[in-house]
Parts: sequence; C-alpha cells; structure tokens
Amino acid sequence: MAKREQNLDDAQEPDKMLGHDPFEGLDLEWLDREEGELSIEVLGHDPFAGMEVEWIGQERHERPPELKRDASEIAPAQIEIEPAPEIPEPPAREQAIAEVAPSVPSQALEPPRTERPADVVLARKPLPEATFHFPADFKWGIATAAHQVEGKNTHNDWWTWEQIDGHIKNGHTSGLACDWWKNAEADFDRAVRMGLNALRLSVEWSRIEPRPGEFDDSALERYSDMLRGLRERGIEPMVTLHHFTNPRWIAEEGGWENPETIKLFARFVHRVVEVLGQQCDLWCTINEPNVYSYLGYLEGIFPPGQSNLRTATRVVRHLMAGHAAAYREIHTVQPRARVGFAHNMIVFDPANARSPMDRRVARLADRGYNQAILTALTKGRWTLPVGLGLAWKLRGTLDWVGLNYYTRDLVAFDPTQRQTLFSRRLHADDAELLDGGYGEFYPQGLFRCLQRLARLGLPIYVTENGIPDNDDDQRPRYLLTHLHQMWHAIQLCYPVMGYYHWTLVDNFEWAEGWTLRFGLIELDPKSQARTPRRSAELYANIAQSNAITPQTIDSYAPELRAELLPE
Ligand code: FCB
Repeated sequence: MAKREQNLDDAQEPDKMLGHDPFEGLDLEWLDREEGELSIEVLGHDPFAGMEVEWIGQERHERPPELKRDASEIAPAQIEIEPAPEIPEPPAREQAIAEVAPSVPSQALEPPRTERPADVVLARKPLPEATFHFPADFKWGIATAAHQVEGKNTHNDWWTWEQIDGHIKNGHTSGLACDWWKNAEADFDRAVRMGLNALRLSVEWSRIEPRPGEFDDSALERYSDMLRGLRERGIEPMVTLHHFTNPRWIAEEGGWENPETIKLFARFVHRVVEVLGQQCDLWCTINEPNVYSYLGYLEGIFPPGQSNLRTATRVVRHLMAGHAAAYREIHTVQPRARVGFAHNMIVFDPANARSPMDRRVARLADRGYNQAILTALTKGRWTLPVGLGLAWKLRGTLDWVGLNYYTRDLVAFDPTQRQTLFSRRLHADDAELLDGGYGEFYPQGLFRCLQRLARLGLPIYVTENGIPDNDDDQRPRYLLTHLHQMWHAIQLCYPVMGYYHWTLVDNFEWAEGWTLRFGLIELDPKSQARTPRRSAELYANIAQSNAITPQTIDSYAPELRAELLPE
C-alpha cells in the first residue's frame, strides 16, 4: 500500500478540497486477499461516507485558486470536473416528460446546470449542488419474469401450486397477471415514455416446450415479436431462460433434483437461442439459484414445498450445472452472445458484532448463500455448506454477473435452530423495515455487494433492485439512496453497466400473491387499470437526465438533501 500513501502525500490539496481523505480508513488490502479470507467486516466500508462533494458541480474555472491542479494528480474516484455533455433528446423523451412526469418541475428534467455567475459563488456559500452523473451508455431498465406478468401460464408447476389452498397468501392466484402474453407492448410503450433503454424479461419454458421434445413455434413467435417490439422502441432486451418456473412434465420427473433436467434445460436453451438469437444477444441463464433452492427446498414456500438441507444443496449444484450447460449451448449457437446469471445477495451482518458466535453464523450464512456459488464459478469447486467437490465445468462460464439486491439481515447464534445451521435472522430495533416483513432498508448493502462482485473482474448488471411499497411512501427514498450507492461504486470504477429496477407494473409476487406491490406503476389485476406511482416519475427523471440532480432530490425526497449533499 506504499504507492497509495505516496499519492496521498502528493495530493494534499485535493484532500483539503474534499474536506477529508476519502481513502482514510478504507481497507484496501482486501484487494490482495484470497477469496476464503474475505469477510463482511473487511468489505463493509463505504469510503465515501461523509465525503464533501460541494465542489463537484462547479466549473473548473470557478474553483478556488488553491484547487487548480492538473487532473492527473487527482485520484480517479474523485473526479467529476467537466460539465456533462448534452444528451440528445429522442422524441420519446419529450413525450415522457409530458405524459409520465407531468408534475415534475421542468427544471428537474433539464440537463444539469453547467454555469453559475462567479460573483454568486464568491459572495455567499452556495447550497451544495453536486449532480451525480452516470456513464453515457448506462442502461436504465426494469426487470420482470414470465409467470409474474404473462398470465394464464397453465402448463407450469407454479400454476398447479397456486391452486392448492394455503400456498399463496390470501388464496391469490396469478390469473391474468399483467396480461403480457396478449399485450406486453402497452407496457413497453410506458417504459419507453419513461426514457428507459433496457428491459429484462423471461421466457416461459412450459409455453415453448409444453411436452417433452415438442416445441411450440407459435409461442416462440410471440416472444420474437416481443423482443422485436422492444428493439424497435430503442430498448435493449435481456432474456432470462429460467425464472423459478418449470414445465409440469419436468416437475413430475423430479425437477432440479434430477440431474436429467440439466440436459433437458440445455436442449430447451439451444432451441430458444436459435430462434430468439435474431433479436437478442444478452442472456441471463438462471435467476437466483440460491433463492429457488432456499424457498423450494428449505423453507418449503415455493414448489415443491420441501424442507431438506441436503436436497436444497443438491438442487443448487444442479442449477449451476444447468447454467454452465446453457452458457456453452448459447455460445455454440451465438458466438457473440453475452451470458450471465442473476445472483441474489443478502448482506448478513452479525447481530452483535462483538459476539464471536454471531460473527461465525453470519459468516456461515454468507458463505452458503452468497459466496459458495461465486467460488464454484471462479475456482471450480464447491465449498461448505453447499457441498464439497469439483465443479470445474463452471469455470469460465460468465461473461457478466447479475446482482439482485434488496436487503440485509442481522444474524444471531441460536443453538435451537438446527435447520438453519444454528442461526436466527433478525433486524435491529431502530432499523427501517420494508412493507410485508420484506427486510431492512439498507442502501449501503448495494454498494457492499457491488464491491464484492467487482473482484470477479466482469461487467456487472444490477439485474434486480426494488421495494414492496403500495403507498409509495418509501420507494422514492429507496430509489435515490440505492442509485446513489451504485453511483459511488461506479466512481470507484466498478464496472456496473446497467440497472434493472424490479419492477415496472405490480405483478404476481409468488407466495405473497398480490399483497406485495413492487411496481413503479400500480395495477388493479381485475380491471388491468394502471396508475403510475410518483416513483415512476422519479425513475423517468433519473433515466432521462442520466443523473441524479439536486433538483430531483429536492422534488422527490428533500429529507435526503443533508445525506446526499452534505453542506
Ligand atoms: C426476486 C425474484 C423476483 C421478484 C423479486 C421481488 O427474488 O427474482 O421474481 O419476486 O424478488
């Protein structure tokens, strides 16, 4: 770390300008550590916490003389000195401003201000005016999954599961969902009016292959139309090939407990890519192998409703083998494809940081849930508690990695909880919680997960991030704080290429039915009426300006000013 110290010695003035040394206390040694040595404590530091960012919005010539330095002397993470280039406005954008964001002050949708009279700056201390810009080609998207939005997916295991009393909260069923099978295009129009340029959807295996080896060309054609429709609207599609549901015939043969499913999945993927490869080259093989196995084979609230640790770990290993097989299949059909998977990460912190047992169970939870899959992909071996043994076929099967981040859990040692490896998950008394017991409002967790994934050296997409919030009283703050954390990560050169908010329109939330509302747009599933929430305007505003401006913060969550733009 001698080099870093040397740089800081040379750069006293930028430090003064920033109010403090942004690297102070940042443990940079983790970069050199072996994976096994990584721990939450090491990675859990936000190097920008409390950073003075006032100067960022000023023109270079307005900066006080002592700050005039060659840009090369300033650490890259601190630099934001040039005004952002003007973004050409597509016609859809103006329309969006009128239709989606009618109540946004027009100022909030204008490009960031680049000039301010020098005398104003000198006469009084201006309000902090930092604008948080995102890279020019950044992808602003939303994420969905076939079963949650299409409606009438009668051939899969979830449809069967929903019909049984007690499986879904309030006896809800997916029913028509958001009616996307008939008319996804109406929501694509809404997305483009918001200024979005990316959309993640999944294809439903049971529609495309309703019986073993029998492919339904009309279903493939419908997906082809959807993807073409997205591209015609200037929206880049990302297609997920497995998002929780299986054809009934797969489930009847043991689903992902049965290793045969790996081959059958690869055959399905081959066919899909042959047809849809005309419209898409960004593929997400499998959504959240850890969640699928945890909820289906440990908690038992997803089909097939089991509770067995050994089976759960076997299912994770088979899903990852399915990922690797799909990766190879896709590249055989489409060599230029970009293939990844969506990894759900939860931050697990010890309930009592001074308790060695709490620390140990938190680390174990982290290894089992977050790390084991990443280690298998990078090192080609399974580690406990997921298993022991080689997984060499998994190595080199990622072109990018997807992060699904929602929340954090505190973990306490509890000798009575065998099934959960002697741990109990809880939240601090003073933690802000999300609706429906969904977890803690913890934006720093997004930064921490990105920091960790950056070690893979691959492009990262935030493939999901969102909040259940029917009355939209937390979502604007959730969006702004999480996107601000992502901005931090990008300033540190973590290769975050895009963000897919979960989700555009309220949809069928698995075991929670329609009780958890994740949409930027509210849906009445009976009438199919849609009503944009205020957060839809906010997200449109950020996507259109490719930045978070002070005006946006003031308009949508003024209570965040002190935190995001400290004086
Ligand atoms: C994720 C799932 C997604 C949705 C969100 C809220 O774990 O991938 O389908 O249910 O949670």
